[in-house]
Amino acid sequence: MQTTSYDRIRQAKDRLGDSLAIFAHHYQAENVVRHADIVGDSLELARKVPGLCAEYIVFCGVYFMAETASILARPGQHVQIPERDARCIMAAMAPVDRLRAVMRRLDSMGRKVVPLTYVNSTAGVKAMVGEAGGTVCTSANARTMLQWALDRGDSCLFIPDKNLALNTADQLGIPEAERHILDIRSEGEALDLEAAARAKLLIWPGCCAIHHRFKPSMIEAARAEHPGCLVVVHPECPPETVALADESGSTSTIIRYCEEAPEGATIIVGTEINLVERLARRHAPGKTVLPLSHSGCLNMGKVTEDKLADTLENIGYLNTVQVADDVSEPAALALQRMLEASA
Ligand code: 13P
Ligand code: SF4
Repeated sequence: MQTTSYDRIRQAKDRLGDSLAIFAHHYQAENVVRHADIVGDSLELARKVPGLCAEYIVFCGVYFMAETASILARPGQHVQIPERDARCIMAAMAPVDRLRAVMRRLDSMGRKVVPLTYVNSTAGVKAMVGEAGGTVCTSANARTMLQWALDRGDSCLFIPDKNLALNTADQLGIPEAERHILDIRSEGEALDLEAAARAKLLIWPGCCAIHHRFKPSMIEAARAEHPGCLVVVHPECPPETVALADESGSTSTIIRYCEEAPEGATIIVGTEINLVERLARRHAPGKTVLPLSHSGCLNMGKVTEDKLADTLENIGYLNTVQVADDVSEPAALALQRMLEASA
């Protein structure tokens, strides 16, 4: 009989024992998640790295997540990702060179701009932010970290998710007049520095294509079809969508919301489809969990059970994730500031 990927993973896990920890983000497919030792949202997974004894961390998620684990790992700990090409498209919307040019021009205003990068960004971006006295946030702590940044300067440069920036600004009550979406074209030459100087929140114009698709009209249609339903969405969705939902929050908040909903509830969830379908299975038949719309992250889906098996059979060698010291050190500083401020 042919050995399946499932069997290969079980055998490798038995062989490696406590020296191995498999991490998986909630957006991973079920046949990957079932092998994970730790499943979580971005913040939970990052928090698990410091203090972890395992020598090998195999990270089932997108590249920036494995890179973050590698930055936070202790010397001698190895981080691998089953598919190197699993790249977050939002992280790719803030290339390091563009950010450098924009930050240089913003500096010329003579105001103290504290950069805050969403964890969905490259190690190079985190390093630049760390060097400039800034920090990192996830969708679970964006409000705390935006306040942290505003307390330390004249304004905050929020990179790269426009929707998360605007949704967090709404939570903190930052008026529209004090927000400015940057024109980052032409290596920063297109910036309107007069408008930027008036704003408290400077916003990089990136977004997640998977969450940006969720529109207010979808919530209206869901409420018409399922009277009395509850709607929960991720804060990477557009502000008009978040405003219409009953709740918004990180993947962990969404999971908790479904758990706490009353028996018999119909819950409409606006986030990545793997998580929505897992919640639907978990809560059936007592509660009905439905997607606001079918929207899947192709990059998360590039990590498969076969690739996980290959990685485990080549532990310490295949698809290792390493960050050069000159990037890792300032990036770690930015991450450390977050871990301390949102403990
Ligand atoms: P969380 O911070 O909720 O884990 O989200 C990460 C992500 O990539 C959402 O698209
Ligand atoms: Fe990036 Fe969006 Fe995929 Fe999350 S869902 S990893 S933000 S592309």
